Amino acid sequence: MQLRTRMPGVGTTIFTVMSQLATEHNAINLGQGFPDFDPNPLLVDEVTKAMQEGHNQYPPMPGIPLLRQGIQKKVKDLYGYDYDSDTEITVMAGASEALMMSILALVHPGDEVIVIEPFYDLYIPVIKLAGGTPVIVAMSAPDENHSTYRVDWQRIRDAITSKTRALILNFPHNPTGINLADSDLDALEEIITDTGIFVISDEVYEHVVFNGAQHQSLCRRELLAKHSVVISSFGKTYHITGWKIGYCCAPAAITAEIRKLHQFNVFTVVAPMQYALARFMSDPTHHLGLADFYQAKQDRLFNGLAQTKFKPVKSAGTFFLLADYSEVSDLPEADFAKWLTVEHGVGVIPVSAFYRDPDSPAANHSLVRFCFAKRETTLDAAIERLQTL
Ligand SMILES: Cc1ncc(COP(=O)(O)O)c(C=O)c1O
Repeated sequence: MQLRTRMPGVGTTIFTVMSQLATEHNAINLGQGFPDFDPNPLLVDEVTKAMQEGHNQYPPMPGIPLLRQGIQKKVKDLYGYDYDSDTEITVMAGASEALMMSILALVHPGDEVIVIEPFYDLYIPVIKLAGGTPVIVAMSAPDENHSTYRVDWQRIRDAITSKTRALILNFPHNPTGINLADSDLDALEEIITDTGIFVISDEVYEHVVFNGAQHQSLCRRELLAKHSVVISSFGKTYHITGWKIGYCCAPAAITAEIRKLHQFNVFTVVAPMQYALARFMSDPTHHLGLADFYQAKQDRLFNGLAQTKFKPVKSAGTFFLLADYSEVSDLPEADFAKWLTVEHGVGVIPVSAFYRDPDSPAANHSLVRFCFAKRETTLDAAIERLQTL
């Protein structure tokens, strides 16, 4: 019998390739987006305690009530929208599961889904798996007059047809580090009022927003909340990416569809971690302190890169920043990233990897992504190597 693939065109991702290359060449890995430091020991202690207390069997399918209530309170305190923790909040196996279940729940064969380029790699294969057609709308890339990427809402509006079912957003944005402003929510409200499409809002970096700015969650506006699935990740917030735990908030009718998929996908999410997180998140200083914690790391990397031939760009959110390498090399981004890893021992990710056609000129702007979720010693060692360029 011939084997048929459900995900044609999906191979090993550049993230895996670059990490393997970094390991082979003993490079400092500022490519893949995860911390090289430990989570708060209090959180780890809470997991041990939860296991010792006997929380080792299947928890309820949508997540334990205490954790869903904690999420409800946090979201209400920060963004003002009051989700019903029984019917509108679901604990998921990471933002990845939340994204996949949301796309499968909302998108049907023949539907179009708008995705903004550059984009996180999960969205497009899953839209296709659901039978949908991704419609890609490019951001404007940095140029002589603009140091950062920009979203043009008119382009998104122009891409909407009678077949459009949903728009996928990701702010703070990986890889560009840009955020939504209040005026962007105005533009989105107009689009939703006119078209009624759904929004899947990937907000995994919601607590990593710099310069005292506030995260513009879609659930700050009632109209947007009523049309959206808002997704977050405890992995990014509490330095526990390996625990694979996150959540999604959505109106009850959408949540009911998402839960049907979730119950046959994993049924529920690891019990002791849910108890630990419920207790840990009751102290908001843990998530409220994250922006300052990462601001110091961004400043350290930015100032270090500014002493090299790279031109770093300040990030408004996420734990990534972009840097222009045009004074170092005129290689395309993927080749440059490999060269930097092999020859200079610092692993980075080419921004072109977040484009539909990474080899095209439209995807190559001499930019690479650095991750600063690293110890100071790691950042300093990388900067030292880059100074020799
Ligand atoms: C934009 C974005 N969405 C989703 C995820 C996945 O999050 P999780 O590890 O919670 O599944 C990531 C992880 O890198 C991400 O950068």
